[in-house]
This record gives sequence, structure tokens and C-alpha cells, in this order.
Amino acid sequence: MASVESGIARHYDVSGLEQNILAVLADTGVDIARLRAGDLEAVDEFHIGGIAATRELIGQMGLKPGARLLDIGSGVGGPARFAANNAGADVTGIDLTQSYVDIATSLSKRVGMADKVRFMQGSALDMPFSNKSFDTAMILHVGMNLPDKKKLMSEAARVLKPGGIFAVYDVMRLKAGALTYPLPWASDESTSFVATPDDYRSAAAAAGFSVTAERPRGAFAIDFFATIRARMAAAQAEGKKPPPGVNLIMGENARTKIANLTAALEGGILAPVELLLRLG
Ligand SMILES: C[S@@+](CC[C@H](N)C(=O)[O-])C[C@H]1O[C@@H](n2cnc3c(N)ncnc32)[C@H](O)[C@@H]1O
Repeated sequence: MASVESGIARHYDVSGLEQNILAVLADTGVDIARLRAGDLEAVDEFHIGGIAATRELIGQMGLKPGARLLDIGSGVGGPARFAANNAGADVTGIDLTQSYVDIATSLSKRVGMADKVRFMQGSALDMPFSNKSFDTAMILHVGMNLPDKKKLMSEAARVLKPGGIFAVYDVMRLKAGALTYPLPWASDESTSFVATPDDYRSAAAAAGFSVTAERPRGAFAIDFFATIRARMAAAQAEGKKPPPGVNLIMGENARTKIANLTAALEGGILAPVELLLRLG
């Protein structure tokens, strides 16, 4: 497990990422000295559908102001900051990749949110939290890196209070078919653990969750990447730099990762799926 997790953290670790994000934003006219959370939204949401997907997922969680929300696999902190700003949640993020934890913390400080969100390094499969310490939890595009969905669900159930909602938005396998790597979450198959909705549902049930909603988002995902491609082509045709996007976080081979993912989405092999779970 330790070697799988270190391989995953290596995959995500992109050197100089925060400076790169700030430089790209400055280039589009953003005043970095007065950075606002909204300025980051094109680059800090590391999942299919970006901010729109986060808004739709969080909209189904019934978050109350002050609710203690755990973001499992919080990346550079976009979804956590969105939940704090738009639903008044008090958010804790945990992520395997230390450099992402550092960037999430630094960006939150830059946008004046250090008191609303906090980030720490750790694994979703062995979380350093006491039982029943959160009202609600979410996980966006992380399960593809988790070999043990039962452990994910039992850990989420352990740290949630009874009745707590766990919102899942992961890329899942809808039918058999070979995947081509690299993908955004894995350089090769040794760190990719994409599972079916059925696998998630049965792991959730074993941990005491019931499913309150489920929505496959394949068409939304295909549209999302088509829009990105169209924007990039338009910028190229006008001789302009491409607009900032999630590709920034994916490093040098972002284009190949996106092309491989798009092929699997268009082939109906993979799709992002929302799963809303209630404990008890
Ligand atoms: C595709 S990114 C999604 C980040 C964030 N949820 C978002 O939507 O912006 C996947 C994240 O999962 C994290 N991750 C992978 N395996 C993990 C584990 N075992 N425990 C915690 N985080 C993990 C990675 O470090 C990475 O930040």
C-alpha cells in the first residue's frame, strides 16, 4: 500500500505548480496581490466539469452554515473553498499529496480564507480523525486512486455523525474495455483502481450507508471536454494563449491525459457518477 500511495503522490506532484498558477492568472490580468477565490476557479477544481460540477454536487448535500465538512482528497482546495464560501461550511481537507496540501493552504491564505478551510496530509484509507467528528463529507475524483472502496466507505462512516451525508463524484467504469494511459489520475495501471457504481454501492451498504441519489454524468463530461477543445482551438486560431484551465494541474502531458480520458468517455467505458449517501 505504501508504495502504491507514494506512486500516486508522485503522479500528482507537479513542480512549481503554485507559481505557475499565479503566473498564468497574472497573465490574464488578475491582480495577484488582491487575489479572490473566484479568480482561481478555472484552475483549482481538479475534476470533470470544474466549478459547475462542484456547485451541482454541493447543491444536493443540504449543507447548513457552520456544518463541519470533510473533503477527502482535497487537491489544491477549489471544492473546499467553494463549499466554505457558498454554503458557509467549515471545511477540513485531507490529501495524500503534500505539495497539494501546501498549495491549498497557501492559496486559501492568499484569498483570505485561512480561518474557513484547513488542509492536512493523510490517506483516505486511514484518516487521522476521531469517530463522528464531521457532519458531512465529500469526495471528488479520488476513488479512482483507492484500491479498497470498502475501506474508503468504512473510514467515511467512522468519521461521520449518524445521518451524515457523504457525496461521491468519481469516475467509474460503466462497461468493459481497455483504458489507455496516462489518465489524469494515473500514469499507468499500477495506480488506477476505477470501479463500477455497483462496487461503490455495495461497499457503501456494507459500511451502513443508504443511497439517496445516483446520477451518471457521461454526456456532461463529453460536453465539458468538447467546450475546452473548442476554446483552445479558438485561441489558437486567433494567435492567443489558451485560457487557463484544469490542464495546468495535470503537468506537461495534460493533452495526452485528456485525450485518453475523452476516448474512454466517448466509448461509454468510463463516466463520472454522482452518488449521494446517507449514514444510517
Ligand atoms: C483528481 S484530484 C481531485 C482533487 C480534488 N478533489 C478536486 O476535485 O479538485 C485527486 C486527488 O486525490 C488525492 N488522493 C489520491 N489518493 C489519495 C488517498 N489515498 N488519500 C487522500 N487523497 C488521495 C490526490 O493527491 C489528488 O489530490
